[in-house]
Amino acid sequence: MTRQLSNGRRALVTGGAGLIGSHLVDLLLGEGWRVRILDNLEPNTHREGKPAWVNGAAEFVEGDMRDRACVAAALDRVDVVFHQAAYGGYMPEISKYVGVNSFGTAQMLEVIRDENLPVRKIVVASSQAVYSEGAGVCPEHGLVFPPVRPVEQLRRGDFGVHCPHCDRLARPAPTPERAPIGGETVYAITKVDQERLVLTWGRQTGVPTVALRYSCTYGPRQSVFNPYTGVIAIFCTRLLNGQPPVLYEDGEQTRDFSFVEDIARANLLAATTDKLDGLAANVGSGEATSIRQIARLVSDALNVPVAPVARGEFRPGEMRHLLSDTTRIRAAGYEPQVSLATGISRYIEWIGRQADVRDYFAAAETLLRAKGIVHRVTST
Ligand SMILES: NC(=O)c1ccc[n+]([C@@H]2O[C@H](COP(=O)([O-])OP(=O)(O)OC[C@H]3O[C@@H](n4cnc5c(N)ncnc54)[C@H](O)[C@@H]3O)[C@@H](O)[C@H]2O)c1
Ligand SMILES: [Zn+2]
Repeated sequence: MTRQLSNGRRALVTGGAGLIGSHLVDLLLGEGWRVRILDNLEPNTHREGKPAWVNGAAEFVEGDMRDRACVAAALDRVDVVFHQAAYGGYMPEISKYVGVNSFGTAQMLEVIRDENLPVRKIVVASSQAVYSEGAGVCPEHGLVFPPVRPVEQLRRGDFGVHCPHCDRLARPAPTPERAPIGGETVYAITKVDQERLVLTWGRQTGVPTVALRYSCTYGPRQSVFNPYTGVIAIFCTRLLNGQPPVLYEDGEQTRDFSFVEDIARANLLAATTDKLDGLAANVGSGEATSIRQIARLVSDALNVPVAPVARGEFRPGEMRHLLSDTTRIRAAGYEPQVSLATGISRYIEWIGRQADVRDYFAAAETLLRAKGIVHRVTST
């Protein structure tokens, strides 16, 4: 076998059996890339083993990011790494997040450098979760970057975001990449790690690297088994089981939603332009939607008129509002193509063809409460 790369178009997609990775694999293959997948088929996500959507035209390596020999083998003759594999959501296993996400990324970078592999670019999946709270506008201080809301404040039922200088309520504003990054959940801490490790390594080695901070991503293939991630998927399975969607806080928190194919396109763009090299870039729709609105959109699309419930619960470390400022990636040529309404109907069309849409959320909730991840408002 030749050590020569095929036109610089040979990709390793870690996590290529997952939501984003699998759509990216399809896109790359369609664009003529040769693709290898490294995925351990994490059982929380893939309860029935290797999903049928894993593209047969890609080489599939079943293996773990934590396994050095396996990662080294998967990197053989790879030109661009799209690092999507991660452990996600609100699970209580602290060490597993750090092992898979932080350590797994660190070790991959080490292998590439130690073995002097000819990797020409790394695009790493970061997240909007790296921000502590979305940017805000204070009537007196203008654009401000508020810290995470204190648990005591949330416990009082005050869900608002206050200006860090004068404590007035701040109006939500698009969050640019220069906002401070922190990590207010274990998952978020490890996304900060992944992003910083990759970008720092890139500066040290001269290998171009890009960290894409995805907004909430949804679409066909989103795990219907993992009740901890993907609010649209969770609401769908709740409603299909005749259960009301559960809103944390009052449901008026807002997020930026991206259809999975748009996120895949952002990865291809990051790999093929040099405009984002060395940078973190938000990827989002630029539109804010409240979680309550999501519940309504999903229930309308499914034609299941079950109203959501807000039971005075909240999750410490969660942001109130996060709308991506997408100026940077748009300047590099990114344009999201799928609207929220179209994306939701495509997801519902897909989920309608799935056999198992049981509600795993109810059991998960009990666990999250027991582990102190979900808290209750004490007085309002
Ligand atoms: N979905 C979102 O809303 C969202 C938002 C921001 C960032 N991200 C990031 O995007 C990336 C992809 O997320 P997704 O939504 O496609 O999740 P996903 O769970 O559908 O896919 C992740 C894939 O990684 C694999 N994986 C997990 N642990 C692994 C390990 N130890 N070794 C090898 N493979 C492993 C899983 O089996 C799965 O196929 C992740 O890095 C995630 O943190 C996702
Ligand atoms: Zn102020």
